[in-house]
Amino acid sequence: MTLLFNSDAERGRVFREAFAIALPDLAFSTDAATVDPQDVRYLVTWTAPDDLDRYANLEIVFSIGAGVDQFRIDRLPAAVKLVRMVEDGIVRMMCEYVALAVLALHRNLHTYFDQQRKHEWRGIPQKQAAARNVGVLGLGILGSAVLERLQPFGFGLSGWSRSPRAIDGVHCYSGQDGLKSFLEKVDILVCLLPLTDETRSFLNAELFATLPLGASLIHAGRGPQLDHQALVDALDRGHLSGAVIDVTDPEPLPPGHAFWSHPKIILTPHVASVTQADTAARAIIDNIKRHRKGQDPIGLVDRARGY
Ligand code: NDP
Ligand code: OXD
Repeated sequence: MTLLFNSDAERGRVFREAFAIALPDLAFSTDAATVDPQDVRYLVTWTAPDDLDRYANLEIVFSIGAGVDQFRIDRLPAAVKLVRMVEDGIVRMMCEYVALAVLALHRNLHTYFDQQRKHEWRGIPQKQAAARNVGVLGLGILGSAVLERLQPFGFGLSGWSRSPRAIDGVHCYSGQDGLKSFLEKVDILVCLLPLTDETRSFLNAELFATLPLGASLIHAGRGPQLDHQALVDALDRGHLSGAVIDVTDPEPLPPGHAFWSHPKIILTPHVASVTQADTAARAIIDNIKRHRKGQDPIGLVDRARGY
């Protein structure tokens, strides 16, 4: 039985050591060319290789990332489970990024960056945190952790998901019926939705128009969820006041794209969170142990929902 690891060499080194201790009966390989394809039971990868069919006994594909939109789920054999990355390191980093971005927008950092470039010294009247509402799209592993991390700052907190959720201290909304009521009260909107057919182009002109005047956006979901031109228009009209953007379509952005130099946008190159090798190895080891006991792995993707 073999686990085939298809990611960077440094992560591979950490995984190999962890697997040798925790699952010594499982062969660990980073080289698809030298394994017997019939032996491969588990594949750890960012995306499925074109020749996946050669692994006739494959049981689980583990995504090295939390998102699984890079896989063509319909092309994975029906018997193969797809598992997204659920690990503490990725959660910690996303909590840091969103806290940083919320505070930056709350304290008008993007405006002060712009004023600094122009050598302007001018304070902006500052609202208190309790007078602002932070709303998170997506109340899964990341969205719910982010909301918990934001609690001590004193913002009003709300969240929106597909199915109803209950989180202490958070006004939870769900489904299309709850979307308008949710958006109408959000001052800082955070997108942590997975990319699916339903969420493609979700952050569009209509959604921005539903947000209150002066609202702002943090986008750390996936690039194709955001209509770039609609964001620029909403910022230029003054309906939105600022944005922190981590994911775009395409990545990287082409030279000359409006986001590079827009004074109301803080842009980061898809670094909000990164899978951490040690905690990710632990998570996959635990999932293989669960699978061997006949339990579903944590993070099992529901093929019909697409996440
Ligand atoms: P989860 O699957 O745990 O959570 C997804 C959440 O989104 C759930 O609450 C789900 O609702 C909700 N959701 C999905 N579709 C819809 C919909 N159509 N309408 C309303 N709500 C919906 O995912 P994670 O929290 O682990 O990750 C979220 C995403 O974050 C990833 O898919 C990835 O794209 C992105 N990401 C970005 C990173 C970066 O560096 N920028 C790093 C890591 C992840 P319900 O609760 O009802 O299922
Ligand atoms: C992920 C990412 O999905 O890094 O893990 O975007």
